[in-house]
Amino acid sequence: MKTLMITRDSLLHAEIAAQGAARMPAVQLTASRNGLRDALERQLADAPELVVLDASDLSAEEAELLERLSKHYPGASYLLLTREPQQDLLIRAMRAGMREVLQLPLSHRAFHEAMDRIEVAAGLTHMRSGKVLAFISCKGGSGATFLSTNFGYALAALADKKVLLIDLHGQFGDATLYVSDQKPTMTLSDICAQIGRMDGAFLDSCLVHVASNFGVLAAADDPNQVGGMKPEHMDTILRIARQHYDFVVLDVGRQIDAVSLRALDQADTIYPVLQLALPDIRDGRRLLDIFRSLGYPPERTRLIVNRYEKGGKLRLTDLEQALGADVVHTVPNDYLSATDSVNQGIPVLQLSRSSVVARSLSELVELVTARRVAESKGLFDRIFGRNEGV
Ligand SMILES: Nc1ncnc2c1ncn2[C@@H]1O[C@H](COP(=O)(O)OP(=O)(O)OP(=O)(O)O)[C@@H](O)[C@H]1O
Ligand SMILES: [Mg+2]
Repeated sequence: MKTLMITRDSLLHAEIAAQGAARMPAVQLTASRNGLRDALERQLADAPELVVLDASDLSAEEAELLERLSKHYPGASYLLLTREPQQDLLIRAMRAGMREVLQLPLSHRAFHEAMDRIEVAAGLTHMRSGKVLAFISCKGGSGATFLSTNFGYALAALADKKVLLIDLHGQFGDATLYVSDQKPTMTLSDICAQIGRMDGAFLDSCLVHVASNFGVLAAADDPNQVGGMKPEHMDTILRIARQHYDFVVLDVGRQIDAVSLRALDQADTIYPVLQLALPDIRDGRRLLDIFRSLGYPPERTRLIVNRYEKGGKLRLTDLEQALGADVVHTVPNDYLSATDSVNQGIPVLQLSRSSVVARSLSELVELVTARRVAESKGLFDRIFGRNEGV
């Protein structure tokens, strides 16, 4: 965004320049003026898209000039910075159509949040309201990492959604390796350590990009850093992630800790992954009991049976009865395709598109996205529509 910066404060100028340059699209300070009067006297031939105005030491006389400035650049968005909240100034600014006001010293997070709103209002980006889908293994090795990573990829590739996968394994997270050969340069714990910088651009810069619309945030790899991660960090990460992605897929791992619990609290749907075997059913029951005691509504939890083979002694209905929950999807056992994909770090949909496991993942994409369409329909459709969703 071409930006006019009006301030006498060179430090503030440098701070806005640095924060703005890190954004996508970048806030480029294409012109600077010393004060409001200076800005009016030396008008720009090329009108700015954004005016950042430091109104800290604006005199009452100068405040009257606000309206003139907004008339000069009627197409621009305005961001006002003030050291003290001055009622009078705020009212004048609002009359001049300037909505965004931030208090100094500058909070970087507040700056980026205001910029997000400005970009949305200017039609440069649109805020998404992404859904959070959590995959959790009922028993080690059930396939939650394989399914979450490959489902994330399929959602991006087939449904053209912007997808983020977050690996929440406390230690030894390996989600990136399932779909990529790139080594992550940043991890979840690095983001937590710099949570003040968190915004859409920062989050994006920390990902392993598997496709242009599918990124993976790697798990914390240093056990010493894991201790620095706080549940409230998860709140911030998911809030920003929802704004910038259509779907946020979580690979929760087996260990529920304070951080992953906070993520589960916010999940729109939780998919416990299990195989049709007694040990899995036992562990699945314990997991669902925990969810019940946490007060999660039953419809939020939807079982996925992995490595399913028809004709076994145990039937799906036995499992549903034992767990008191419905199986929403089954993924067939496909040892060769799954192993090839995991060993090469290439999504199964890319490697063996016509395999049964790839087809099953496509069906899951259809189920999940059909539900989104159903949710966005009107009340009439919701009452009379037939789509039950996932
Ligand atoms: N549908 C499937 N058919 C055949 N093999 C599968 C299938 N799904 C997963 N696997 C295999 O199972 C193995 C374990 O899967 P995965 O690592 O995803 O389990 P997990 O639940 O994440 O385990 P952990 O508890 O260790 O995190 C993988 O190596 C994968 O190849
Ligand atoms: Mg795993």
